[in-house]
Amino acid sequence: MIFVQNVSKVFSLESGDFFALKNNNIHIRKGEFVAIMGPSGSGKSTLLQLIGGLDQPSSGKMIVDGIPLNDLTEKERTLFRRTRVGFVFQNYQLLPMMTVAENIALSLSANRASKAEIKSRVQQLIKDVNLEGKESQFPTKLSGGQQQRVAIARALAMKPQLILADEPTGNLDQKNGEDILQLLSQLNKEEQITVVMVTHDQQAAAAADRIIVIRDGEIVNDRKKGVVGNESMASSMA
Ligand SMILES: Nc1ncnc2c1ncn2[C@@H]1O[C@H](COP(=O)(O)OP(=O)(O)O)[C@@H](O)[C@H]1O
Ligand SMILES: [Mg+2]
Repeated sequence: MIFVQNVSKVFSLESGDFFALKNNNIHIRKGEFVAIMGPSGSGKSTLLQLIGGLDQPSSGKMIVDGIPLNDLTEKERTLFRRTRVGFVFQNYQLLPMMTVAENIALSLSANRASKAEIKSRVQQLIKDVNLEGKESQFPTKLSGGQQQRVAIARALAMKPQLILADEPTGNLDQKNGEDILQLLSQLNKEEQITVVMVTHDQQAAAAADRIIVIRDGEIVNDRKKGVVGNESMASSMA
């Protein structure tokens, strides 16, 4: 599903080149639920953005859903993001001037689905995330947990096989955070959607089957739940 091969990301700063990611290798299989953990500034969001085609590596290769991202044109990359990946962010990133239904329909409209298709798909998604009755509401009228569920419905609209979530519970209280994690787990277990979730919350990471720890742009640990001796090369050689 996801191959990250010798991937580095360098930002040119006034003070010189800064390596946000240093020569990383990761393989994530279809249907895995992976948490990416690590201190603030360690490169977690940068990695997620590369996987989702929001940004490009400075060197190395990314293959996602069978697609070599390096080879895509800007236009193809946009299509890749819209159709193959569902993004979920800490601050929901819903459009405030659009209703819940319109927010969820964004990628469907962009992909020129018919009105009837959009209507039935949005209805189904609203049901899936438990937001019946909220179709015509504006996001600001909803609780944080509800807004995040709208964001997840929007992410699922094009039926992606991959969800990338960056601190999806970061702005939520305990109860709402647990609900969101449960929804992600359910999508992962019942629909085999691959989930890669950045979090610095140990409790959130517990929802995942595998935890990758990144520090200063490098993977320092990679372990699967219930599997002993599955440390990554990086950590076993450290
Ligand atoms: N566009 C950018 N330009 C310069 N530096 C950046 C940029 N994006 C991220 N960084 C730097 O790269 C490092 C990793 O950032 P990030 O991936 O956002 O970390 P995390 O998500 O783990 O907190 C940080 O030091 C950050 O300041
Ligand atoms: Mg981040």
